[in-house]
Amino acid sequence: MPDTITDFAAIRRPVAEARGLPNPHYTDPARHARERDRLFFDTWAGLAVAADVPEPGDARPVDYLGVPLLLIRGRDGAVRVFQNICRHRGMILVAEPRRIEGAIRCPYHSWCYGTDGRLVATPHVGGPGMNTHEAIDKATLGLIEARSHVWRDVVWVNLSGDAPPFEEVHANLIARWTDFDRALHHGGAESRFTLDVNCNWKLAVENYCESYHLPWVHPGLNAYSRLEDHYNIEAPGLYSGQGSTLYRQIRGADGATFPDFPALPAYWDTAAEYVALYPNVLLGVHRDHAFTIILQPVSQGRTVEHIHLYYATDDTAPELRAANAAQWKTVFEEDIFVVEGMQAGRSAPGFDGGRFSPAMDGPTHCFHDWVAGRLAGVP
Ligand code: FES
Ligand SMILES: [Fe+2]
Repeated sequence: MPDTITDFAAIRRPVAEARGLPNPHYTDPARHARERDRLFFDTWAGLAVAADVPEPGDARPVDYLGVPLLLIRGRDGAVRVFQNICRHRGMILVAEPRRIEGAIRCPYHSWCYGTDGRLVATPHVGGPGMNTHEAIDKATLGLIEARSHVWRDVVWVNLSGDAPPFEEVHANLIARWTDFDRALHHGGAESRFTLDVNCNWKLAVENYCESYHLPWVHPGLNAYSRLEDHYNIEAPGLYSGQGSTLYRQIRGADGATFPDFPALPAYWDTAAEYVALYPNVLLGVHRDHAFTIILQPVSQGRTVEHIHLYYATDDTAPELRAANAAQWKTVFEEDIFVVEGMQAGRSAPGFDGGRFSPAMDGPTHCFHDWVAGRLAGVP
């Protein structure tokens, strides 16, 4: 059945002729629900970071576009994702982030689950004092696990369960950044913050992809890494973004810098790359630190950005980490008025998706092409 709202072919034309996605993709709850199924649940999307559950037994409930999920690190050290519901009557199991001592006990009738998801206890299920019943087969009533994979500390989930393996789908970026395939050390409390933004999640992706806005939105950043020092990155169907050839390390008052990730080729002495891995994870890599932003869509018009900074070692200087986090927070906050402004602009019926700069907006168009392809069923 032809789509009456979106002319997918117009979006998928070459960048010089293409239109952007029309307003309903940013404002309509029904479009948002369709995108949730096709762009998130059917793919590998970012849910959280493994550093959110650092110790065995740590559990964190996450609302994943309306689906209650539970991120948990088992006693065996493995990070798993389950539906955060009891197999008895569907009660939410864990309401707040906490350390599970012993088992996950349902607050309703006390069915208990191991941190690996196994159903281990069903008190009085066979009547008072009878903790078993022949009709209740514990072996088949463990927590429902969501398919997950950890890469660059991001916990990726494929809710539909039928996407090809993560390493296969994202072999391209894994190969591109093989230099950065090193242990990542989360910077700790000051290296973790969130921004609550009144825009559709796609606008955060679109704005992150391009360097066109740097001179006007990020004058501080632009002072040392100018527009002409950037290049576009486009991997159709997978990711897009930008690179800079003039990355300059942050320095403390005494001139100290963060240690580099080990054995990096000389190219990365002054280069950095920033890509949006579709749908919702924004990644940045530099010689001495990396960051990850997981976009959590709350509704079609609201997104929470979860930001995490990582280093090459566990013992970086706390003041320098705080300064680096503050510097990035300033940059990400500078972007808020434009993504919120574009969201507000999408209530104007005269807007037809807009036109792209063929030179500067290729990465954004690349993202729209992916969105349109997946929604039209021809990725
Ligand atoms: S709903 Fe969990 S034990 Fe009844
Ligand atoms: Fe920006």
